[in-house]
Amino acid sequence: MSLLIKGGTIVTSTGRYNADLFVDGDKIKTIGTDLDMPADEVVDAKGKFVLPGAIDPHTHLAMPFMGTHAQDDYQTGTIAAACGGVTTVVDFDLQQKGESLLDAIERKKSWADGKTVVDFSLHPAVMDPRPEVIAEVKKAILDYGTPSFKIFMVYDFRVDDATMIKLLEETKKYGGLVQVHAENVYIIQHMNEILEKEGKLTPYYHAVSRPNIAEEEAVSRAAKMVELTGSRIYIVHLSSKEGLFKVKEARDRGIDVFAETCPQYLLLDEERYKESGFNGAKYVMSPPLRTKESNDALWTGINSGDVQVVATDHCPFDFNGKKDMFGKDDYKKIPNGAPGIETLLMLLHSEGVAKGRITLEKMVDVLSTGTARMFGLKDKGAVEVGKDADLVIFDPNQKFTITQSKLHMNVDYTPFEGREVTGMPVAVYSRGKKVAEWNGTQMDFVGEIGRGKFIKREPFEGF
Ligand code: URP
Ligand code: ZN
Ligand code: ZN
Repeated sequence: MSLLIKGGTIVTSTGRYNADLFVDGDKIKTIGTDLDMPADEVVDAKGKFVLPGAIDPHTHLAMPFMGTHAQDDYQTGTIAAACGGVTTVVDFDLQQKGESLLDAIERKKSWADGKTVVDFSLHPAVMDPRPEVIAEVKKAILDYGTPSFKIFMVYDFRVDDATMIKLLEETKKYGGLVQVHAENVYIIQHMNEILEKEGKLTPYYHAVSRPNIAEEEAVSRAAKMVELTGSRIYIVHLSSKEGLFKVKEARDRGIDVFAETCPQYLLLDEERYKESGFNGAKYVMSPPLRTKESNDALWTGINSGDVQVVATDHCPFDFNGKKDMFGKDDYKKIPNGAPGIETLLMLLHSEGVAKGRITLEKMVDVLSTGTARMFGLKDKGAVEVGKDADLVIFDPNQKFTITQSKLHMNVDYTPFEGREVTGMPVAVYSRGKKVAEWNGTQMDFVGEIGRGKFIKREPFEGF
């Protein structure tokens, strides 16, 4: 298959220019002016942007969690990704008790087998940190191509600080990156006890139980472990102004603390928990939504370079049947998480670029180029000769009203219902093959089930 894209504006993380682009097979072969080689498909991209496909490095596909499982599997989740312009997904791979880390990678790869429609990789999550598991880090990085490792400072499967230190030391040796869910579990447990005694158990109190200070303290502590070991961490789903301040403080001192935030922490706030009835449960995620002040601080963090990546934390549970399964009378039993993989690019463009909060180039950086660099995806993340032809032809003026019925995620709601966005993909390509296109009203999936492949990533090379 070959593809010639003519007359578009190619956008990089540092600039934009008008050029034609020729794709042969999986790769971008030529970029230039007035290209006229014969191609199987010729696309007129005049007035459109040619973007690198977005990379979502924070998803929980098919993940067993809180008595149920995240509803998108590798098929529905990557179809939704494709329809939103996400052409690479790096999914969390939660090690089970007694399981080896390498077996966990093989297990989750087998769940994806024959199902993915865009490329994917895995971050092993260390949940049972036996010494022999920590010793598997080397093989996971060098042989399996999974150089990033998630740890949780909360939930039943959290690790202690001693484990964090050992993991930081081991990953440092081989170019690994530790990703941290940073919240102080003792603050949360204390708040839960108080709220339980007071009978405050509606979804609103989920946010009250996890105050900003819980994130602030955990980010600060994790940063100290990095200082001690000389290693590096990446804070996932950073949500608060206070947490960001701790990231910035460490970075200003030359400590390698990186951070990711998500559209929900940029665009939604804690008022959502006050929606009528049980509606607040739609936003029960950890960390919780914060205030507008934190929303604004995180946009500033993106512009200052203290937040390098925007991801989704896609972890969908139906509002009817899952969110209310055990949690109707107790926020602590509501499965934590929300859908977002399909709305990442449209929201960041519309709320970020179109509203003047970030530049188009910054958007490309935090969704593609910087993300590829952070996670060792050497063939992804930029519109450049030799890279995989993971491309989005994007119409910056196309309007779309986000509504669950026009999305492809396997869940019965979106936290962004009714929001009008400006800018939508016209067509999305994964390694040169069209996987999604705009049909005049919404995105259609037009790809091939099972064409997505597992990508071995490179060790961390600095950021
Ligand atoms: O609420 C969330 N974020 N659910 C998914 C698991 C996690 O903590 O990332
Ligand atoms: Zn988390
Ligand atoms: Zn998550």
